[in-house]
Amino acid sequence: MNILSFLNLLRMIYGGKKPDIVKIQKMGLLAVKIAQVHALRIDFLSEATCLELSKLYRANIPIKTEDALKNLNRAPFSSIDEKPIATASVGQVYRAKLVSGEDVVIKVIKADFKRKFEKDVAALKRLFKFVIFFYPKLAKVFDPIGIIEHIEEYTLKELNLNNEIEGHDLLYSLYEKNKRLYDLSNLKFPRIYRELSSETVMVSEYIPGKTFDEILDRDMDYSRLLLLFKIHGFFMFNIGTFHGDIHPGNLMYHDEKIYFIDTGAIGRVSPRLSSGLLNFFDALSVYDYERCALRLNEMAETGIAGRAFDRFADKFKRLYSDFRGKSVGEVSLTKKMMETIKLGVHSGMSFEKGMFSIIKSLMFLDGMVLRCNPQARLMEDMRQFIAEFRGAVHTGS
Ligand SMILES: Nc1ncnc2c1ncn2[C@@H]1O[C@H](COP(=O)(O)OP(=O)(O)O)[C@@H](O)[C@H]1O
Ligand SMILES: [Mg+2]
Repeated sequence: MNILSFLNLLRMIYGGKKPDIVKIQKMGLLAVKIAQVHALRIDFLSEATCLELSKLYRANIPIKTEDALKNLNRAPFSSIDEKPIATASVGQVYRAKLVSGEDVVIKVIKADFKRKFEKDVAALKRLFKFVIFFYPKLAKVFDPIGIIEHIEEYTLKELNLNNEIEGHDLLYSLYEKNKRLYDLSNLKFPRIYRELSSETVMVSEYIPGKTFDEILDRDMDYSRLLLLFKIHGFFMFNIGTFHGDIHPGNLMYHDEKIYFIDTGAIGRVSPRLSSGLLNFFDALSVYDYERCALRLNEMAETGIAGRAFDRFADKFKRLYSDFRGKSVGEVSLTKKMMETIKLGVHSGMSFEKGMFSIIKSLMFLDGMVLRCNPQARLMEDMRQFIAEFRGAVHTGS
C-alpha cells in the first residue's frame, strides 16, 4: 500500500460517503484490517459507514487453489477437494480425507500475504514517522504508530495458525473447567490434528453440519440462537474470556450441538466490565433506564459524576424512549448499543479496549436474530439467561 492508496482509504473511511469495500479488499490485507478496526468506531464515524465497513469481516476475494496449496505436504491425505469451502482474509479452507480414512478440513495461510502485509506495515510506519516529524502535534492528538502496531500484532497472530490452536485450547479448557458448574452440554469443538498442523496449515475434524450462516435465513430455530446466547453469554459475562469473532460463519450446527470454530481471536474483559455489562443488561431487560445509566457509568474506566452524570442520564432516557417492547426488527440492538457507547464517550466516560470485542459480539448476535426471527423481543427473551448468569458460579481463566 502506497501513500496514495492509504490516503484513498482514509477518504473512503472518513469521507462520509459509502465506502467501496471491494476496492478496500483489492488494496490488500493491511487496508482491510484498518477498515475493520474502524467498523467499530461508532464513537467518531457514522453508523452507515460502520455497518458497511463491518461487511469486511466476511467478504473476501478467493485465491487460486494451486497457489493456496503450493507448499502443502500432501502425504497424509488420500484426497483433497479442488474447490475451497471458504476464503478468509488470510487464507483458504479445503475439505479432505486422511489416508487413515477420517474426514477433515485443511486451513492454509497464503505465505505471500504475510510478506506483503509486513512490507505495507513498514511503509506505513515510515510514512507516519515522516508526517509526525513535520507535524509533531499530530502524535499528541492520536497515536497512528500505536494503532498500526496494534493491527500488526493481532494480524500477525492471525497469520500464524498456532494461535488459532491456542485459542481453541483456551476455550476448550474453560469449557472443561466450567461444564459441571453451568450447563454447556450443547457446546462442542472440532478435534484438531496437531501432528499435521503448523504455523501455515491447520487440519481439523470435518463437521458434517452447516454453519449458522447457511441456515439462519431458512431452517434456523430461534431456540438454537437462544442456546448460543446462553453459551456465549456465560463466557462473556461470567468468565470474561470468550470467542472473539463469533460471526455466523464461525459457528457450526450439527446433531443438536453448536461448534465453535475459527478461534484465532479471543476476547478478554476485566471482571469490572463483564459483571458491569451483566448488570447493565439486567436493568435493560426490565427497561429500568435510570439503573442502566448508573451501570454503564460503573463499567467505564473513567466515570463521570454530578451534573455531567445527570445530563448523561437524561440523554440516555431520551435515547431509549422508543425501546420498550420493540422487536429487533423494529429497533436494532446493535445501533442502540453503539449509540449508548457513543453517548457515554461524548459525556466524558472512557472504556477499556475489551469493550470493542464486546460490541463486535453483540453486533454479530443481534445480526443473527435479525435474520432468523426479526419479531423477537430479544431483551425480554434474555431475562431468563441473565438470571442464570447471575446465579452461576464459574472458574475463570
Ligand atoms: N471443522 C470444519 N468442518 C466443516 N467445515 C468447516 C470446518 N472448519 C471450517 N469450515 C468451513 O470453512 C469456513 C471458514 O473456516 P474458518 O475456520 O472460519 O476460517 P476463516 O479464517 O476463513 O474464517 C467455515 O465458515 C465453514 O464453512
Ligand atoms: Mg471464519
